[in-house]
Amino acid sequence: MGGKEIDADVAVIGGGIIGLSIAFELSWRGARVRVFDRDEPARAASWAAAGMLAPHTEMIEDASFRALCADSLAMYPEFVSRLFAAGGIDPHLRLDGILSTAFSEIEMEDCAARWETLRRRSVKAQILDRDDVLRLEPSLASTVRGGLLVESEGQIDNRLLGRALLAACAARGVTIHASARDIALECDERRVLGVRSDQGFYPSGSVVNACGAWASQLAGVPIDSVVEVEPVKGQMLALQIPRGLIQRVVWAPGAYLVPRDDGRLLIGATVEDIGFDTRVTARGVQSLLDAALRAAPALRDCALTEMWSGVRPSTPSGLPQIGATSIAGYFVAVGHYRNGILLAPITARRMADAL
Ligand code: FAD
Ligand code: GLY
Repeated sequence: MGGKEIDADVAVIGGGIIGLSIAFELSWRGARVRVFDRDEPARAASWAAAGMLAPHTEMIEDASFRALCADSLAMYPEFVSRLFAAGGIDPHLRLDGILSTAFSEIEMEDCAARWETLRRRSVKAQILDRDDVLRLEPSLASTVRGGLLVESEGQIDNRLLGRALLAACAARGVTIHASARDIALECDERRVLGVRSDQGFYPSGSVVNACGAWASQLAGVPIDSVVEVEPVKGQMLALQIPRGLIQRVVWAPGAYLVPRDDGRLLIGATVEDIGFDTRVTARGVQSLLDAALRAAPALRDCALTEMWSGVRPSTPSGLPQIGATSIAGYFVAVGHYRNGILLAPITARRMADAL
């Protein structure tokens, strides 16, 4: 392949949840799309994540960013049903609420203050006393003082979501170039020309940088258009739990617990500003297990089945960049930091509208 004709309307570089969601949305609207990944798509941060859909529990301060996150959450049921219709894989969307727990008077006051704020914003939430919390989650420690339930939030199995996106993209005719080497943007002073890799040159009308934590390293981008993205490491682990031991996403001091339909309980996550180091460390695992067992001592005899880590893509402002750049035809969808799974539907829509 190497002709000069435009071969794809859009080339997406980076096949994480963000790149694949954009590719799916564009293909749904009739565009010809290619996705280039230097590795296996739907791995990286998108595989490592916990999959929580938590615009309120994440305590986002920036009002317009919080609104973006809430709008994306509202789009999720329709997004997932289109994915299922296209590719036949159900990524287990569960909107059964997220419970933040308090184990001290100060944490209880914090829950009450957050509940008051949510009430003012018309977000459905309940402030709970100790008995209410234990009725919802009987396996939590009896020392729990109370909690806050945000009813509209929940989770999706992000690894299944990756598979659902790949299947839906394939069904919609998206070409995926996995494990491509030497991927580079090709452009002149004014506009993009396409994407080059060891698999050849693919002319393209537009190119989207969706390279996650590596976005600033994409080859071929003129220096004044390089996006600033830094990695922020997160370690996680999984226990195999008896069905129903923990029923919904629970935030406890020092860790969150995410029960999956397959019987795993994810425990996450550390937040470490140490570059692209993805080792799972003794300290990381200890801190997560300590926090989880303090909140739910009943977990202590469960089998520890998996440990992993990933890097969140973070920008200096803490906000994602989604849209055009000063180079005609070159777009970025980067910097989704702690909320890239949540933001997939709205990022895809915004990029497709912009393109
Ligand atoms: P990635 O998934 O990292 O994908 C980037 C892709 O680009 C990769 O496939 C990579 O191989 C490819 N790539 C990189 N450079 C190049 C190149 N030069 N050429 C070609 N390909 C390239 N978000 C939530 O919403 N909810 C959560 O509960 C949640 N929990 C998290 C827990 C942890 C531990 C972590 C680490 C993250 C969590 N996140 C969560 C954040 C979320 O995972 C990310 O924001 C999201 O996955 C970013 O997606 P992405 O597609 O931009 O990046
Ligand atoms: N959003 C959860 C995390 O990034 O750990």
